[in-house]
Amino acid sequence: MKTLSIQGGRGQSDIHVGESLDNLKHYVPENRRIIIITDSVVRDLYGKRFPSGDVISIGIGEKIKTLATLEHIFHRLIEMEADRSVFIVGIGGGIVCDTTGFAASLYLRGVDFGYVSTTLLAQVDASVGGKTGVNFGGYKNMVGVFNQPGFVICDPALLETLPAKEIACGFAEIVKHAIIADADMFAFLEQNSPKALVLERSVIQRLVFESVDIKAGVVEQDEREQGERRKLNFGHTFGHAIEKTASLRHGEAVSLGMVIAGALSVEKGLLHPDEQGRIVALLKSLGLPVRMEVDKQAVLDAMQKDKKRQGDSIKFVLADGLGQALVQDVSLQELADVVKRL
Ligand SMILES: NC(=O)c1ccc[n+]([C@@H]2O[C@H](COP(=O)([O-])OP(=O)(O)OC[C@H]3O[C@@H](n4cnc5c(N)ncnc54)[C@H](O)[C@@H]3O)[C@@H](O)[C@H]2O)c1
Ligand SMILES: [Zn+2]
Repeated sequence: MKTLSIQGGRGQSDIHVGESLDNLKHYVPENRRIIIITDSVVRDLYGKRFPSGDVISIGIGEKIKTLATLEHIFHRLIEMEADRSVFIVGIGGGIVCDTTGFAASLYLRGVDFGYVSTTLLAQVDASVGGKTGVNFGGYKNMVGVFNQPGFVICDPALLETLPAKEIACGFAEIVKHAIIADADMFAFLEQNSPKALVLERSVIQRLVFESVDIKAGVVEQDEREQGERRKLNFGHTFGHAIEKTASLRHGEAVSLGMVIAGALSVEKGLLHPDEQGRIVALLKSLGLPVRMEVDKQAVLDAMQKDKKRQGDSIKFVLADGLGQALVQDVSLQELADVVKRL
């Protein structure tokens, strides 16, 4: 097991990569009442291994990441007579983590919480960095707060029950981390993608650790996304727009978004065409889409509504070679031209 820490504005978060769900109770301070928030799938699979305590189950899918689910959680916490001494643990994927963190940040003006992240995407991305929140009014993650979990447990054994498509989505974020921050990690991924795909323990643990390390480093510099943290949006401007318009999973849409962002980086002379070729080949080898027919106008319309848009331009993340990124104001017109050319 390896541990990394993030020093956030509202406390420290310790991320334990390679720790087991079975040791969860050792991370909750003594004499605290544990309340677990999970989803129905994770509860069916792993509920027997949860430490004793009350469990609040939420449904599955983006549609339940809402204020209504928060209300449900608050009602249950009141019924359980949860006071400020409770310790809430979210056990699940990104949806459970984002919702749990937000609920715990609001209940009684904030109670302590931690996560056991059970999807690859949650381990390398969603559970790290302190962004919590739910969807609202048709916009993803529109309401929420920055607040770090006290701890995160990333148990690689839990990934073995994940469907292949969910695993691929986690790889999209891992590739993103390598592109923006670590050329050696990119090369390691290229050499080890078959082993990564079958979740070979040493390979997956290294990739999760390095991903967390990169994200934690960026978040420590810029917890509230004023600058450096924007780099984590590589592939996400187009990714989010594609996700909204085509029925694709987030990681699949981000894979397509990274291909487009890479192409734009090549056009701007920042990325060598061979490097772009390596990005495309790596994504393919990890079971991610790199080409797809999309409704171009719908993608552009969705981009107009990007909540990170500022006037007529978007702070767009470009690959500055492999292993580095930079953020540039790119006009909506220029982005529309790229989409039309593809
Ligand atoms: N806070 C952040 O910084 C951040 C970053 C990235 C993504 N996110 C959010 O994360 C969410 C997506 O997370 P996700 O991809 O983990 O989705 P998810 O939470 O919906 O999990 C995917 C599916 O896998 C199931 N599942 C979970 N663990 C399992 C296991 N071990 N075995 C089998 N099935 C399992 C879940 O029940 C669910 O049906 C999005 O809402 C996104 O906005 C947040
Ligand atoms: Zn993402």
